[in-house]
Amino acid sequence: LLPPLRVAVTGAAGQIGYQLVTRIASGEMLGKNQPIHLSCIETPQGMKALRGVVMELEDCAFPLLKSVSATDQVDKGFADADFAILVGAKPRGPGMERRDLLASNAQIFAEQGRALNKVASREVRVLVVGNPANTNALVAAANAPDIWAEQITAMSRLDQNRAITQLALKMHCDVAEVERVIIWGNHSTTQYPDLSHALVRGEWIRPRIDEDWYRNEFIPRIQKRGAEVIEARGASSAASAANGAIDHMRDLWLGAGNKWLSMSVPSDGSYGIDACLWYSVPCLCPGAHFRRILELPVDEFSASMMERTRKELIEERDAVRHLLPRDYERIISM
Ligand code: NAI
Repeated sequence: LLPPLRVAVTGAAGQIGYQLVTRIASGEMLGKNQPIHLSCIETPQGMKALRGVVMELEDCAFPLLKSVSATDQVDKGFADADFAILVGAKPRGPGMERRDLLASNAQIFAEQGRALNKVASREVRVLVVGNPANTNALVAAANAPDIWAEQITAMSRLDQNRAITQLALKMHCDVAEVERVIIWGNHSTTQYPDLSHALVRGEWIRPRIDEDWYRNEFIPRIQKRGAEVIEARGASSAASAANGAIDHMRDLWLGAGNKWLSMSVPSDGSYGIDACLWYSVPCLCPGAHFRRILELPVDEFSASMMERTRKELIEERDAVRHLLPRDYERIISM
């Protein structure tokens, strides 16, 4: 067995958190030879439910779980964290504008960025799940000057998984036979699920894709899948979101060979995306880190789709500008 690593999860008593913590503790995220200390973080109101979650974790007797702690203090919860999964966020309340939601959540992520900067391991890998995830990641990174911005990523893996399955259903193949599906941009309804480079059983399938299905069924279905699940379940995606977080962190940390994986990462200016936006791009994961896949050809349709989601991320950034330090671009580019 390896020396234990410390994993912090915010919003651990919420829908996604409840699904996530058992899977982390069972070894699905960091591997079956990796013992862990789990640090669960909640709001003061969430602490009672969190005590129940901790009891259940104890009741699982997971061999890899060395300790579990519960707190409503981020400075305590993130102390020495090797991984931090930021799930906790405010849901949209009645009559709340998107702008208000952005600002109140960004406030949370500014505080969490400062806390990570102060107490987490210098090597911490941070995954932002709480929405608006991309912009929350920007705010957290801008407030964590001593942590390399590339250690902070936001989740687009759920969108990628959704897109892979919809393509597999259409092509009557197994999900494992689908490769190189890309999610570009924001985790929102402007995201661009791109099949331009997709392979099925190793074969490039773009020329065989029905254009009407692609533009009028596939793309909108992936963009609005979250709402479709809410409509059916009466609650938002939780098991699949937790699964996306596990997939993202596992592949990032343990490596995923030559698989193309979409991750929202700080833009380096490639593909005409403004530096310092957390924009989903295809990456390779050799282990412990990601590498952007650069210089893919972008056709006219793709360019217009990528531009639309870029614009939305700029609007989101501008709405939370007051939470970004004046020199945030320097902090992120360091
Ligand atoms: P939930 O409302 O069931 O759980 C959120 C939990 O976070 C609650 O227990 C709450 O007490 C806690 N919380 C709120 N503020 C906190 C803070 N400052 N510190 C610590 N804990 C805090 O929500 P659910 O369904 O678990 O979703 C969580 C977030 O994930 C939402 O923002 C949701 O929109 C987002 N999400 C993101 C997805 C993605 O693909 N990136 C997919 C699905 C959901």
